[in-house]
Amino acid sequence: MAIRTIREMGDPVLNKISKEVKEITPRVQDLIDDMYETMYEANGVGLAAVQVGVLKRIVVIDTTGDDPILLINPRIVEVSGEQTGNEACLSVPGKTGSVTRPNYVKVIAQDEELNEFEIEGEELLARALIHEIEHLDGHLFVEKVDGPLMDVEMVEEEERVK
Ligand code: NI
Repeated sequence: MAIRTIREMGDPVLNKISKEVKEITPRVQDLIDDMYETMYEANGVGLAAVQVGVLKRIVVIDTTGDDPILLINPRIVEVSGEQTGNEACLSVPGKTGSVTRPNYVKVIAQDEELNEFEIEGEELLARALIHEIEHLDGHLFVEKVDGPLMDVEMVEEEERVK
């Protein structure tokens, strides 16, 4: 396993469309292992393969630190409700902004044997699922920010004062 370099906003790869995974080769398995390691090392809750420069439709998510979820070729099949909250991204380091998202999402994806499964998420998990799946189509959360993109440190400072 290895930690890979996280691509940052401005890198054109982040705006490209990732390709469907049709076979789990040893190379793809290594990529998945490295994505987990890279996400945990960066204290992220999600990472898409494109963020390490590989245009494959693969996402890893862990919103609790103890619940790793691998999604291959994920697609959103249902959304409902609404939530608004500050969002961040390992490819936009140090920045955060308010994004309104559905509060519930249902996703169909494939596991590491390419068997299809369904996953539902609410609140933070719904936000993470949608955010990561949007990466696969070349989108960053900054496109959806309502209001200014803020420095994470300043927001944390404000929250301490409150
Ligand atoms: Ni992101």
